[in-house]
Formats: sequence, C-alpha cells, structure tokens
Amino acid sequence: MLIQFDIHNDIQLSWTRAILYCFSIWIGKFLRLSKNDIYGESMNKDGFESSIKEDELKEGQMRAVRVKGKPILLVRVGGEVFGLSNRCPHAGCTFEGGILREYIVMCPCHGWKFDVRNGQYTENPLTVLQTYRCKIMFSTIFIEIEKPKQQK
Ligand code: FES
Repeated sequence: MLIQFDIHNDIQLSWTRAILYCFSIWIGKFLRLSKNDIYGESMNKDGFESSIKEDELKEGQMRAVRVKGKPILLVRVGGEVFGLSNRCPHAGCTFEGGILREYIVMCPCHGWKFDVRNGQYTENPLTVLQTYRCKIMFSTIFIEIEKPKQQK
C-alpha cells in the first residue's frame, strides 16, 4: 500500500483552516455587537438577563430555567410573569411537577404552598422564596438577576 503526502494540499488545508478561524472570530465579535445593538447596552447595566421566549410560557404554566447559574421558576398568571427561586426551602425539591392554582404554587414533594407574587410560604409568611422581577421585551422574558448598581 502506497501512502502519498501531498504537501500542496496540506498547505491549502492549513490556509483554509486559518481563514475559517479568523472568519469565526469575526462572526463572534459581530454577533456580540449585534446583540448589544438589539437589547441595548442598558440590558447589562439594569441587571436583566434574557431567558426563554415569551411563547414558551403560556398562561397558567410554570417553567424551570437556569440563568447565570440560578435555578428559577417562571410562572405566568393573570397575564404577568413571575420569577422565583426554584428550590423549596423545606427539603430542596424543585417546583416543576408541582401544582399551580391561581397565584399559589404547591411543591410536588410535600405540598408546601407559596404565593408567586411575593414568594411567601402560605403557612408562615416569614419563610420566603427569593423572587425575581421579570419583563418581556422582543418576545423574550428577561429576569432581573442583579439589582442595578446605584450611580453616584
Ligand atoms: S421539599 Fe418542598 S415541601 Fe418539602
């Protein structure tokens, strides 16, 4: 069996890879710029991060998302979207698979109930889930992960 090395083809292949690499870097920079153009630089400053598309969460539905490493339950009730921690303070279960009745979500593990509007446990208002403000822009649900820093 004869194995031939075609040095000319190898050089051409290297040039092709180099051009593709440069092109991908250029495209990456271009996309980042266009994202800022679309959402505006203020999206980073005001602490809101994009999550799922608006039509992925219908009225009366819950959906678990993870944004910036945080497990968040999105709930759509009364035309509003609410965000709350997707970690039950009782024993750490997540809420997907639980029951949603009006503004109350019931944990699927042991039945603790929380108000999605303020995160309060219905039996003891001192136990509160972290809540996140949500807004819809460009058909996307944005979640306030960090509070905006005060400008001096
Ligand atoms: S883990 Fe949620 S009620 Fe027990």
